[in-house]
Amino acid sequence: MQRAYLTVIVSSRILEKGKSSSFHFNTKRKETVMQTPVDTRWMIRRDLPEVLDIEAQCFECPWMEEDFLCCLRQRNCTGIVALLQDRVTGFMMYEFIKHQIHVLNFAVAPWARRQGIGKQMVSKLIYKLSPQRRHEIILEVRESNLPAQLFFRSQHLAARAVLHGYYEDTDEDAYQMSYELPGYQEMLVAHQPKNRISDFWDILHRQQGVA
Ligand SMILES: CC(C)(COP(=O)(O)OP(=O)(O)OC[C@H]1O[C@@H](n2cnc3c(N)ncnc32)[C@H](O)[C@@H]1OP(=O)(O)O)[C@@H](O)C(=O)NCCC(=O)NCCS
Repeated sequence: MQRAYLTVIVSSRILEKGKSSSFHFNTKRKETVMQTPVDTRWMIRRDLPEVLDIEAQCFECPWMEEDFLCCLRQRNCTGIVALLQDRVTGFMMYEFIKHQIHVLNFAVAPWARRQGIGKQMVSKLIYKLSPQRRHEIILEVRESNLPAQLFFRSQHLAARAVLHGYYEDTDEDAYQMSYELPGYQEMLVAHQPKNRISDFWDILHRQQGVA
């Protein structure tokens, strides 16, 4: 029941469109590429005022406190904050589903952008992948949220589907983007069970020139 609530109430609000003022190609970026190292840790209730502040600055339809709490109460959901000198500069919420990490919310404070903080958060997620358990990261981005699409693409997530009318508020489409652990497909093939029947089909296919 709770799981259904999370999916219906929270997923419908996830990854909302950024306020247009926050989204622009940062043409005034300094030439030197900065990567500010951030600390990350689990989100706790005390972080919520800062998290909600960032959320409100990033999205037109921001999550409310109850949305975060609802998520954090789920056993399969996690919140992570990125800290710069003890100040919350970014956060992400994700849920573990069977073989995937599904990102529900992801944001960096406008004043802290283009310093590699988002990139470090994605790296944390990638680090959690393993061939045995979750081998894929998935998320949805609004069709109009080009900066986020470019960001995730720069982190090697690829668009794999268009979800029509995904967002209830505007009926906007979402791009579903994903990242799969490199080499996972090859590993699957290599570990396919072998027996006399599969050997027979391999030989037959080779004789028939089927790949
Ligand atoms: C998208 C977002 C998380 C990026 O965070 P960030 O900390 O600024 O990203 P990084 O500094 O790690 O950027 C890494 C790379 O992503 C790409 N990138 C990031 N922001 C970009 C933008 N606005 N336009 C184009 N490319 C961008 C760049 O290639 C960048 O590398 P570079 O700075 O060396 O060129 C941040 O802009 C944000 O919070 N946006 C609002 C919330 C949002 O839309 N969340 C996603 C919902 S799906």
